[in-house]
Amino acid sequence: MLQIQITGGNRLNGCIRLSGAKNSLLPIMTATLMVHGTVCLHDVPKLSDLTQMLHILADLGCTVNIQGDTVKIDVNELNTHIINRQAAPKIRGSIFVMGALLSRLGKVELPFPGGCAIGSRPIDIHLTLLRQIGVKCHCQHNCIIATYQPRHHHKPVILTLDFPSVGATENIIQATALGIDGNIYIVHGVAKEPEVVDLCNFLNQCGARIQGAGTDTLIIKSVSQLHGTTYTPIPDRINTGSYLIAVAVTGGDVTLTNVIPTHQINLINKLKAIGAKITTTNDTIRIIVNHRLSHHFNVHTAPYPGFPTDLQSQFCVLAALTKGRSTITENLFENRFRYVAELSKLGTKITLNRNQALIKGVSTLSATPTSILCPCSYRIPTTQKCLGTTLIAQDLRGGVALVIAALAAQGTTTIINADYIYRGHQDIVKDLRQLGANIVAIDQ
Ligand code: UD1
Repeated sequence: MLQIQITGGNRLNGCIRLSGAKNSLLPIMTATLMVHGTVCLHDVPKLSDLTQMLHILADLGCTVNIQGDTVKIDVNELNTHIINRQAAPKIRGSIFVMGALLSRLGKVELPFPGGCAIGSRPIDIHLTLLRQIGVKCHCQHNCIIATYQPRHHHKPVILTLDFPSVGATENIIQATALGIDGNIYIVHGVAKEPEVVDLCNFLNQCGARIQGAGTDTLIIKSVSQLHGTTYTPIPDRINTGSYLIAVAVTGGDVTLTNVIPTHQINLINKLKAIGAKITTTNDTIRIIVNHRLSHHFNVHTAPYPGFPTDLQSQFCVLAALTKGRSTITENLFENRFRYVAELSKLGTKITLNRNQALIKGVSTLSATPTSILCPCSYRIPTTQKCLGTTLIAQDLRGGVALVIAALAAQGTTTIINADYIYRGHQDIVKDLRQLGANIVAIDQ
C-alpha cells in the first residue's frame, strides 16, 4: 500500500503544467477499437486506470507501444470480443468497451465494471439506449453478454437519455458512430461534459460524423469505417480544479499551464466570490491568495456546466477553513462524503444530513497523533507512529481532499491507501513539492 506524508503550513508558489484528462482518455482509448489503423495519443499521464485500460486493449489484440507520454495503439486485428476478467472489474471505464466492440465486432462479453465506490453506479441508462438501437443483451455469471446486428434505417432513430449520464452518452456515441453508412441517430438529453466533446472531436478526426457535441442533442451519422489519427486530449480539468482549491486553502501564488480556463468557469467564479484573485489567458490560470478566505458559500453538484461532483470533496476542505457556515449538497453519487470522518481527525466541524454537508469554518487544522486508531493491518512503521495524524483515503477525489487538508494542517499527516489517489493523479506529490509543499510519497 502506498502512503503520502505531508507536513502542512507551507504556502504554494510557482508554476506547474497539467497533462491529459483521465476521463477523456478512457473513452478515447476504447474508441480506438473502432478504428482500422494506428492511433497515436499524446500527453497521456501514467495513471493506473489508464494502464489497466491499455491491458484490456492489448488483451483484445491491439498492439500498444508506450514512449514517455505518447501511446501508440495499433488496432488492425482484434482476436476476441471477451474482455479480460481480471482487468475490467478494476476500472469504471471498462464499460465504454461495450459500445466500441458492438459497433466494431457486433458482440461483447464484459465483466461488470468497477471504479471508485462512490455510489451504486447503475448502468441501466447505458443498457436502455443500447437496447433501443437493437442490441440484445443479458447478464450471466457477473458478465454482460451483448450482440448487435445493425440494420439500415430509412428515418433518423430518435433516442433520449432520462439523465445526462456521461458514461451512457459516451457508450451510445461509440455504438452508433461506426455502423451502416447513412443511418442517423438523434440523441437528446446527452451529457455536455468537455470529455464528451473531446471523444466526439477524436472520433470526427478519425472520419466520424458527429454534430452537436457540447449541447443537449447529438446528431450522429454512422460511417462504415474509421481511420487512424494522432490526437492530444484536453488537459485534466479536475486535477486543475484540485490545485486551484489547494492554493485557496494554503495561500500562495501559482500559475497552472496547459489548462482550459473556460472548463473551470463555475469554480473560478466561486473562488473569486470568496476572495481569491484569479487571472486567465487562453491556456493558463494564475491564482493568488494572500489571506484566509472569508465568505461562506452554498454549493450544489450538478452535470456540466454545473459544479463538478469530482471537486466536491476538495471544495469541502476550503469550506472547512472559510469563515462562517457553508453547505455542500451532493446530487450525483450517494457515497461521496466518506472522507468527512477522516477530515474530522484534523479538527474540521462538518455534520452530514443525507446528501448535504453542513460546514462550520474553523481557523486552523491540526495533525495530532492518532495513529493508534489505525487498523494494524495497515502496518504503519514504528518510526512514523508518533508523527501525527493518519488518514485513510477511500476513493480518488476524497483522497485528494485529504491531501489538501493536510497541506493546511499544522503538523504531519500520513495518508494511507494513497493508491486510490494515484488512479487519477499520479504527479500529485511531484507537483506539490515543486510548488513548495513538504510532501513525500512512501512505498510500503
Ligand atoms: C463519469 C466520470 C466521473 C464523474 C461522473 C459525473 C469517467 C470515467 N468517470 O462517471 O469521474 O464523477 O462522470 O461527472 O468519466 N446513472 C444511472 N444509470 C446509468 C448511468 C448513470 O442512474 O446507467 C447515474 C449515476 O448513478 C449517477 C449519475 O447518473 O448518479 C451520473 O453518472 P454518470 O454521469 O454516468 O457518471 P460516470 O460516467 O459513471
